[in-house]
Amino acid sequence: MIRTHDCGCLRKSHLGESVTLAGWVSSRRDHGGVIFIDLRDRYGITQIVFNVLDSAGKDNSACCSAGKSLMDLAKQLRPEYVITASGIVRTRPEGTINPDLATGEIEVSVNNLMILNTSVTPPFEIFSDVVPSEEIRLKHRHIDLRRPRMKDNIILRHKVAFAVRKLLDKEGFLEIETPMLTKSTPEGARDFLVPSRLEPGRFFALPQSPQLFKQLLMVAGFDKYFQIAKCFRDEDLRADRQPEFTQIDLEMSFVSRNDVIDITEKIISEIFNISGLDIGTPFPRFSYDDVMLKYGTDRPDTRFGLEIFDITDIVGKSGFKVFSDTVKSGGVVRGICVPAGDKISRQQIDNLTELAKKFGAKGLAWMRCTDQGFESNIVKFFTAEECEAIKIASSAIPGSILFFAADKPKTVCSVLGNLRLEAAGITDIIPAGAFNFLWVIDFPLFDYNEDEKKWDAVHHPFTAPSDENCLFDENINPASLKSAAYDIVLNGTELGGGSIRIHKSDIQKKVFQILKISDADAYEKFGFLLDALKHGAPPHGGLALGMDRVIAMLSGSESIRDVIAFPKTQSGNCLLSGAPSSVSVRQLKELKVKIEK
Ligand code: AMO
Ligand code: AMP
Repeated sequence: MIRTHDCGCLRKSHLGESVTLAGWVSSRRDHGGVIFIDLRDRYGITQIVFNVLDSAGKDNSACCSAGKSLMDLAKQLRPEYVITASGIVRTRPEGTINPDLATGEIEVSVNNLMILNTSVTPPFEIFSDVVPSEEIRLKHRHIDLRRPRMKDNIILRHKVAFAVRKLLDKEGFLEIETPMLTKSTPEGARDFLVPSRLEPGRFFALPQSPQLFKQLLMVAGFDKYFQIAKCFRDEDLRADRQPEFTQIDLEMSFVSRNDVIDITEKIISEIFNISGLDIGTPFPRFSYDDVMLKYGTDRPDTRFGLEIFDITDIVGKSGFKVFSDTVKSGGVVRGICVPAGDKISRQQIDNLTELAKKFGAKGLAWMRCTDQGFESNIVKFFTAEECEAIKIASSAIPGSILFFAADKPKTVCSVLGNLRLEAAGITDIIPAGAFNFLWVIDFPLFDYNEDEKKWDAVHHPFTAPSDENCLFDENINPASLKSAAYDIVLNGTELGGGSIRIHKSDIQKKVFQILKISDADAYEKFGFLLDALKHGAPPHGGLALGMDRVIAMLSGSESIRDVIAFPKTQSGNCLLSGAPSSVSVRQLKELKVKIEK
């Protein structure tokens, strides 16, 4: 080994020891006869010192390396040079102890130095409060990963993966890999395709999740499966979405919803424990209908109130035509009450109106609550009784401001759900450090697709209905069917989702029928699963957690890009490698692929 110790471990207990460290020059301070270097590696920083005179007062300029004296060599050091330095551990002089550094009580008086490699000037400073642009960080990711925050995130990621493996092994789960080159899995995104050279014109799809394979593993009898699995989805990217991401994926046989929920809560507790956080379990459970009504979304942020209230019945016959006409045509009128309304300026109301329109609203009505009653341009349209009823429904108090959306329920949910988040941000009411976990259960099984005039599966088409019998009732409205799916949500982010699956062929067939997937199509796409269901498939269910999202939450990162060593940009590129890139004509020819100009 080149080194005897790492740069984070030396303490007073090592005083007088002869040590050799190796690492990167983090900073250099040249005081003429004395040069101080902060030497850095993954484990920490140690101050090393070069003196013209050694501790006994003797000239310290003996030949060191390449015929150069120690001091001459030390003078050459520049940021990010890679060196190894040997010397004696000693206490720092009085007044120079650094309490912010684990090694801050000691320094190493160097008697031998070797420059292992030089470095050009890095594109940005590694220890700086100024964070460079993400473009620069991603282009020089190997430098960015030297920044303490990024380094800590990557170490945390390892700890999470390790803790999950340890826990699930103890619980009897087997980690089993599933193929990367496979067939399309229906998780709702576009597939990444890989052309087959051996069978020109045919394509593999990269898995959107191991869904079908983990179900096959249940049929095979591996009753507790997990995998830290790479998934690929070609979809619009956001702060919490990458084209290539990682799931903590699991599946179990002979279980009910509660069993899957229990093991998931154990996993999450174990993960948050890594950072010393004790999150209370069990997490509260809300029905889908309940969260849509109260929060306008199926991934509610419950760290603050601002719950949605409904005034459809109050204003249905009011003189304000925007509301009464909406109610007449089957719509709803709902609102939110922002307590610190005086913090919201006229300009901000206009901005919120624009935001509401972005989510489909035709406008955004509002009223301020004052000691004299409601004030706004629409108050004149309401009777005193209607105003009083609105006040009670909204729990408005003087100082608060009410915002209303009138539209189809779906639009109102989307508008107020988003407005709620924005208003919470503006009025600064989101408590720091809160982790509000919750489960959303009792999802609808199907959702009507207005554009294509057909029913879609809300989760994936292998999700079991809560009541199998209802599925065969010819008079049933598919909108009323509930599924055995569950999502886990933290502070407004969907961390994971899963369900109890369909394990019988006749039920799977019926679901495909409602989804208007023909027998031929179903066989073409998922024939291997349908066949397996005929060979003694046990009842089973599972879930997948978005590992990147979990770690981003745990580390307080704004984007999952900050917890992935080599992520893609928002536009799906790798700035480091330049992927995706063109390929040679020969490669295309081999694959029999032609590029359309
Ligand atoms: P689902 O599609 O809900 O379920 O995915 C599970 C979790 O994976 C994470 N996730 C993502 N993370 C980063 N980037 C993405 N593009 C991305 N897409 C999804 C989310 C999400 O909650 N096979 C089912 C699970 C099951 O039913 O067992 C599935 O994949 O955190
Ligand atoms: P108007 O009569 O169009 O001037 O609208 C009066 C107020 O109602 C304005 O503040 C509009 O932004 C608002 N408004 C219009 N349509 C809606 C709607 N569908 N829901 C809520 N507010 C609306």
